[in-house]
Amino acid sequence: MDIIICKDEQEVGKAAAALIAPFATKGGTLGLATGSSPLSTYQELIRMYEAGEVSFKNCKAFLLDEYVGLTRDNENSYFKTIRKEFTDHIDIVDEEVYSPDGANPDPYAAAEEYEAKLAAESVDVQILGIGGNGHIAFNEPTSSLSGLTKVQALHPKTVEDNARFFNTIEEVPTHALTQGLGTLSRAQNIVLVATGEGKADAIRGTVEGPVTASCPGSILQMHNNATIIIDEAAASKLENADHYRLMEQLKLR
Ligand code: F6R
Repeated sequence: MDIIICKDEQEVGKAAAALIAPFATKGGTLGLATGSSPLSTYQELIRMYEAGEVSFKNCKAFLLDEYVGLTRDNENSYFKTIRKEFTDHIDIVDEEVYSPDGANPDPYAAAEEYEAKLAAESVDVQILGIGGNGHIAFNEPTSSLSGLTKVQALHPKTVEDNARFFNTIEEVPTHALTQGLGTLSRAQNIVLVATGEGKADAIRGTVEGPVTASCPGSILQMHNNATIIIDEAAASKLENADHYRLMEQLKLR
C-alpha cells in the first residue's frame, strides 16, 4: 500500500484526483463511492474537467452500493446522489453510470444481477471512503474478505452516521446492496480517501492492523495497487506515519 498523508481535505482531494484523472482520459472504467469522503476529490475532478484537463466522455462508472428500498428518484438514493455531486457536472454519458437496483422487491436478485454485471467488467480505478468502524463500501465488520455483491444489514453506528442526510433516523434504510470485498478487490487500482479524527481508528486498523474481517478496510493490505490518501487527523493514530512520509519522498515514480 502507498500511504499519502496530506495537510487537509482539499489536498486529499487534489492528490486523489491526480491519480484518477489519467484513467478517465483513457476512457477507463471508474468505481465510484458516495458519502462525504470523496467530495473534495469529485470537486477537484469537476474543476479539472471545466479547465479542459480531463474528459470522462468514454468512461463507464459503477457505484459501490445503494440503499435497499429507495427508488432512483429518491433524493437520498446513491443513484441520485452521485449525479448531484459528481456525474451531472462532467461529460460522462449518464446511461453509463451504473448502480445496484435498490428498488427491486427482491434485493437478493438485485445483488446477483449487479455482481453479474460487474463480473463482465474490469474497473480501472476504484474510489473508496471508509466508515468509522472500518467498513468499505457497506461491508460491515465480519463481512467475508472474499465476498461478492450482497444484501448487508447496516450497523446501528452506520445508520446513525448516515442519519445526517435524512429528516429522521427512522427514515434511514436498515439494509444496503453492496459490492463485496472480493468484488471491489478486483479493481486494478484502489484509492481510499479519509479525513478527520473520526476515521483515525479505522485507518490504523486498515494500514497497521492484522488483515481481519473485523476491520474490512484491512483487506486492502492484500491488494497490489492500493493507495490510502488521508489528512493529518485521519493519520493521527498511525504508529509509523514518519516511515510512510519518507516512503512517499523516496518514490521514484
Ligand atoms: C458509500 C460507501 C461507504 C462510505 C463510508 C464513509 O458509497 O461505500 O463505505 O464511504 O460510510 O462515509 P463518509 O464518507 O460519509 O464518512
